[in-house]
Amino acid sequence: MDWLSDYNPSVKPVFAQTLERWYEHHKRDLPWRHTNDPYRIWLSEIILQQTRVAQGRPYYERFVAAYPTVSDMARADERELLRLWQGLGYYSRARNLHQTARYVTLQLNGKFPETYDELLKMKGIGSYTAAAIASFAFGERVPVVDGNVYRVLARVFGITEDITTTKAKKTFATLAVELIQAADNPATYNQAIMEFGAIQCTPVAPDCLLCPLQQQCQAYLTGRQHLLPVKSKKAPVRERYFTYIVFRQNGKVAMQERIARDIWQNLYEFFLVEDEEPAVPLTRLAFPDPIAALLKKGVQTGVPVDMMQLLSHQRVRAWFYEIELPDNVDTPLPTGLQWYLTAEIDELPKPVLITNYLQRSLG
Ligand code: ADE
Ligand code: SF4
Repeated sequence: MDWLSDYNPSVKPVFAQTLERWYEHHKRDLPWRHTNDPYRIWLSEIILQQTRVAQGRPYYERFVAAYPTVSDMARADERELLRLWQGLGYYSRARNLHQTARYVTLQLNGKFPETYDELLKMKGIGSYTAAAIASFAFGERVPVVDGNVYRVLARVFGITEDITTTKAKKTFATLAVELIQAADNPATYNQAIMEFGAIQCTPVAPDCLLCPLQQQCQAYLTGRQHLLPVKSKKAPVRERYFTYIVFRQNGKVAMQERIARDIWQNLYEFFLVEDEEPAVPLTRLAFPDPIAALLKKGVQTGVPVDMMQLLSHQRVRAWFYEIELPDNVDTPLPTGLQWYLTAEIDELPKPVLITNYLQRSLG
């Protein structure tokens, strides 16, 4: 095993309880931390995979208000559910949510699976989400392991294995299983290590001076916080296919902020549908209301424009469709989408792709 050096063997038995005590004093008050309902925990984790806590919170609240139970979600109109999801990216994740809600309601009599192994069988529930639900809702002693956990463990224990390798994943998983055995409460411990990674042992600027593990932390003791975890493998270039719908009316253009945990976070773009295949015709895409209504009332102007932007690990190909709405049509825009005048659009932060498109289409 590649360890930075022999770690202080006294850290293992105190690690879990140190984090649990730290958590009681530092935890953020978040709505999904006040429930044992596996449905709500599942919903919160799926949303938090798509965006940060601050952005995800209002989505969680809107979903819970619309669908308080899993059977409410199962009965949901898919367009309505997609409308609530709007802004979080990939509609396929929202469809998985709906399918799993239907499965639990119709096949499992509305009773969410209660063990890690059973949870893993659900569509859209991977090992991280299964461990989160099993521990938070049912107290099962299974560790959550994600990027936050790799970072904290690599630093405290001085593990220099490359986290992109299968071997390292085993090392971390084995250590995580061992550490959770000493926790007073597996649910608290799992919340604690996630929260610790999110607000104390952060990627770029960990707050080592006020850290309760400082004197046991191999990274701190050897001044190598910024070198851990080791992540060498270069991500392959990912192809992405965006269909943008540029709604125009009275000289205004509808734009939205990208809030998903993804490229271009906090930049502005047009209404977007992402697909797994290139150049999907508009007629083959399913649109939630009120987008479907806007498309019906508008007129497509010109031919779709095709543009590309190369990022360090992604290649984005985009098709832009211009839809002009008659002046008198009054249809509300979906959450997030807003009308902007040309002068206002100049002021908005935008991805290069969008700026290039605007230059080309406005002249
Ligand atoms: N990120 C992922 N899961 C989380 C949770 N339960 N609380 C806060 N942030 C999270
Ligand atoms: Fe993280 Fe610094 Fe604490 Fe080590 S001392 S666990 S690097 S915050």
